[in-house]
Amino acid sequence: MATSERVPVELCKGVNGLEKVVLREVRGSSAEIYLYGAHVTSWKNEHGDELLFVSAKANFKPPKPIRGGIPICFPQFSNHGSLEQHGFARTKFWSIDTDPPPLPTSTSNKAFIDLILKPTEEDMKIWPHSYEFRLRVTLGPGGDLMLTSRIRNTSADGKPFSFTFAYHTYFSVSDISEVRVEGLETIDYLDNLQNKERFTEQGDAITFESEVDKIYVSTPTKIAILDHEKKRTFVIRKDGLPDAVVWNPWDKKSKAMADFGDDEYKHMLCVESAAVENPITLRPGEEWKGRQELSAVPSSYCSGQLDPQRVLQGS
Ligand code: BG6
Repeated sequence: MATSERVPVELCKGVNGLEKVVLREVRGSSAEIYLYGAHVTSWKNEHGDELLFVSAKANFKPPKPIRGGIPICFPQFSNHGSLEQHGFARTKFWSIDTDPPPLPTSTSNKAFIDLILKPTEEDMKIWPHSYEFRLRVTLGPGGDLMLTSRIRNTSADGKPFSFTFAYHTYFSVSDISEVRVEGLETIDYLDNLQNKERFTEQGDAITFESEVDKIYVSTPTKIAILDHEKKRTFVIRKDGLPDAVVWNPWDKKSKAMADFGDDEYKHMLCVESAAVENPITLRPGEEWKGRQELSAVPSSYCSGQLDPQRVLQGS
C-alpha cells in the first residue's frame, strides 16, 4: 500500500482539477469531499464498494452543481423561495477551516475535515445576511459517515435570518424496484408532485414504482433503506433535521435532466435529512446545528434474518 493511502486526511485534485479531500479509515473505508460545494462525492465501505450514487453524466464544472453524492441545500431547499433551486451552498467554493470551535468528537476519529463558508460582498447582494457555515465530515472507525453543520448568524446589525436546509443524499441501490424505506409509515408528507398538498403515508413500508418527490414532516430520527438485492441496509440517523425528503425522478424526468442518464434512476434513491416545513430562524449570535449520520449494514432479508423494526430500534 502506498504511503498516501494510509493518510487519514489528504488534500488532492479531483475531476477537472477541482480540489478534494480524501478521508481514509484504517479498515479500508473512505470518503471524498470536494471543496466546490463542500460536496461529498464518494463514501466507500471497507471492501471498496461505493455506497453513494453519482451520475456518470455529472458535471464537475462550476457553476453547475454536481449530480449525486451529498449536495448541501442552503439557505433554501428546492424552489420554495426567491433564491436559485436548493440555494447557493452547493455551488460555492468552501475553504478548509483550520481553527474551528470545538465540537465533541470521539478521539478515535482521525479521519475528519472541517470546511467553512462565509459570504463575500457579491454574495450579500443575493442574500443579505452575515453567517458562518461550518461543516465537519467525519469517517468513523466502523466506516460510518457523519456530517455536522453549524450555521451562525454573525450579523452586526441585529437582523435575524431564516433558512431551510437539506443533506440531499443520493444512495446507491441495486434496483429501485427492490428497495423499501422503513420509518416513514403513517407520517404526513407534502407532495411536490401535487402542489405540495399534505397527505398521510399509508401502508406498511414505502416501495417504488413511479416518480416520487415527497417531503415527510416531523419524522422519526432514524430511517432505514433496505436494499433486498444487495442485502444491504442503510441507516440514517439525524438530529436537528425534523423532515425527510424522498426523491426518485423515474424515467420521464430522468430523460429531461441533462446531467443524469436515462436509466440511472433505477440505481439511486435520495432520502434527504432536512428542515423544510418550518424554516430555522437565527438571531445575531445564535447558532443552529444539524447532523446526519449514515451507516451501511449487511442485511439478509431473504433469509428472514432482518427485522426492519429491530434495525430502527437498535442504537
Ligand atoms: C429534490 C426535490 O430534493 O431534488 C426535487 O424535492 C428536485 O423537486 C430534486 O427535482 C433535484 O433537484 P436538482 O436541483 O438537484 O435537480
